[in-house]
Amino acid sequence: MKLRYFSHSACQISTKNITILIDPFLDGNPTSPVKSEEISADYIILTHAHGDHIGDSEKIAKRCNSTFICVNELANYFASKGFKAHNMHIGGSYNFPFGKVKFTIAHHGSVTPDNYYGGEPAGVLLFIEDKVIYHTGDTGLFYDMKLIGELNKVDYMLLPIGDNFTMGTDDALKALEFVNPKTAIPIHYNTFPVIEADPNQFKEKAELQGNFVKVLEFGEEIEV
Ligand code: NI
Ligand code: MN
Repeated sequence: MKLRYFSHSACQISTKNITILIDPFLDGNPTSPVKSEEISADYIILTHAHGDHIGDSEKIAKRCNSTFICVNELANYFASKGFKAHNMHIGGSYNFPFGKVKFTIAHHGSVTPDNYYGGEPAGVLLFIEDKVIYHTGDTGLFYDMKLIGELNKVDYMLLPIGDNFTMGTDDALKALEFVNPKTAIPIHYNTFPVIEADPNQFKEKAELQGNFVKVLEFGEEIEV
């Protein structure tokens, strides 16, 4: 399985047969080296409805006939526009052909760019090919991350470090202590001046406390 990080919260997980996008904000994203027309998706998972997460979802879904996976209110929003959508909600999991998806809490907001309520913002746990990937979505630090870490042996944790809208680096270090993933991948930084952060400094500090961090280049793909 491969994980590609486009920048911001946007990433792609591909297995032999299936491609999944999470929060594909590409065309309007000043840091993404990849544009939406270059990628395709069988499934699009959205953590919440903000424009920097919905991004190019509709364009891609229209072209690829992708299925949205998101919390109920946001899934209904896309279904009402004629898209395929699988409604889920926080705490619930479902077995898709590629593996299991479970939504977790996230402390943030969720409204679509055209002002529809997007339900609760979420994080997402993916159980694919014996690996556990935890994409926290946009969130502040919360103590239940400790429970998420206890209940799931997280292999890859994608977590924001850019501050202002989400955790900054100090709280993200605490989040790593709570979840204790095998590998942490910092996201949601340097897209805009207000969320500037140094991922390498974060990596150094995390490794001093015993957490391994892999900083991905924008556009980089790794085997996971
Ligand atoms: Ni947001
Ligand atoms: Mn965001």
